[in-house]
Amino acid sequence: MAADATAAQTAVAVAVETARAETAAAGAARAAYAISQYPDVPALEARLQRLVRSPLRDLPAEALERYHAWYETHAAGSKALAAEAQRYIPGGVQHNLALNEPWPLAVAAAEGAYLTDVDGNRYVDFLQAGGPTVLGSNYAPVREKVLELLASCGPVTGLLHEYEVRLAKLIHDFMPGVQRFRMLGSGTEGVMAAVRAARAFTGKAHIVKIGGAYHGWSDQVVYGLRIPGTGSLEATGIPKGALERTHELAPGDPAALAALLEKLEADGGTAAVIVEPVGPESGTYPAPRGYNAAVRELCDRHGALLVFDEVVTGFRLGMGGAQGYYGVAPDLTVFGKCVAGGYPAAGGVGGRQEVMDVFAGGLTAAGQRAFVGGTLSANPLSCAAGYHALLEMDRTGAPAKAGAAGDRLRAGLEALIAARALPYVVYNFGSIVHLHTSGVLHLRLEDPDFFTELGPRKDTLEHMSTAFAAEGVITLAGSRLYTSMADTDEVLDEALAAFDRVFAQVQA
Ligand SMILES: Cc1ncc(COP(=O)(O)O)c(C=O)c1O
Repeated sequence: MAADATAAQTAVAVAVETARAETAAAGAARAAYAISQYPDVPALEARLQRLVRSPLRDLPAEALERYHAWYETHAAGSKALAAEAQRYIPGGVQHNLALNEPWPLAVAAAEGAYLTDVDGNRYVDFLQAGGPTVLGSNYAPVREKVLELLASCGPVTGLLHEYEVRLAKLIHDFMPGVQRFRMLGSGTEGVMAAVRAARAFTGKAHIVKIGGAYHGWSDQVVYGLRIPGTGSLEATGIPKGALERTHELAPGDPAALAALLEKLEADGGTAAVIVEPVGPESGTYPAPRGYNAAVRELCDRHGALLVFDEVVTGFRLGMGGAQGYYGVAPDLTVFGKCVAGGYPAAGGVGGRQEVMDVFAGGLTAAGQRAFVGGTLSANPLSCAAGYHALLEMDRTGAPAKAGAAGDRLRAGLEALIAARALPYVVYNFGSIVHLHTSGVLHLRLEDPDFFTELGPRKDTLEHMSTAFAAEGVITLAGSRLYTSMADTDEVLDEALAAFDRVFAQVQA
């Protein structure tokens, strides 16, 4: 459905006001958000830049050798499986977030705050599958509901199931701005759908993302990944045309967004601005406090839809998501991870009814609707898992508990780093904790020594990740730690002791 742009703009303004009021009310009603204190973003940026300019504080060769020896003696089962994986799986790994040095660890069991590998080693798990398990891994009350569902109808039928409706309604209850919800297979699919809906609804083509942000791997958003300004550096296998109307901007800079939206007006206008509300890569480039509201205003001014990618923040920051926390109502929200409670097929898009109606399904809508699909989309298993996980998260206050664990972990790491006079930077958005030891992600493309610094800083990060694991802590690529409700003080103390054993060996 390609709508007239002016009518669409008016509709946007009215509905956005309504949704804003609803979102604010929901936010007030549910004060239990994971962020107890917003990071001081300008101060953080200064510290991150100091880290990038400081000499590297890596682990010495002897320490790395000791850690490699540990893997040889303690992780032989993983080594054997990884060697076999090399024979059948490209590069031997399926997971971008897996720890790959010296080889991927193969997991045998996951429960609460812990992972156990095939060799029987137990780890405190701050990867948490990349973020969906705010209740902790393999949470029994949700698993029981999933098993009941499997016993009654199996994982999939292809027809309507009650859990589809229950999940969509529950999401609407928590996020009133999500008037309609379409469940899909992944966050990547949710972003694809959001972009398509925005284009269909506004009749405009350009999309704007923030540099460094990851919005899945569809053709149109593999642009400016990881390090802002890198454009199509990672767009191998993607034809130029697919990215022609994708633009990236420096993080946290509303003035740059205003200028870009103005410029794009002359070329048919912008369909959508897509942001991760806490900043690109879950806040690796932290968003200043008023940033989302400023983006909302600019989108309104230019008749562009505001899309919140809440794949990570959705329900992890609180049941109202980042939109409830910030009190900013997006037109569309992309879901992933928590929406299926840590079970497979986790994705979706939701938002204002008149935008979402571009997806109205059926076989007779050819030419009028934006096409989405998926054989296993909205299957009963994913919907039941998501529904019961969200209910449990609300009942137990899991987002706030996980956030408190994040606060304690951050404070503990801060103390260890200060005690050893390391230049490392740690901060958190509740249960999303960032630990920057090498500064590799904060190198700036325009720095003359960017390319000479990149390799060694990347290696240091990898060394840290490998050492943390050998000491018993799994992180997300060495620089991000997701906490969950299962992270008790005892678990956190165990992890902090492990971090300190690594920090104690860092080169002077
Ligand atoms: C912010 C964000 N958006 C989108 C995605 C893509 O989601 P998925 O991996 O489910 O395709 C991710 C995945 O990590 C993400 O972190």
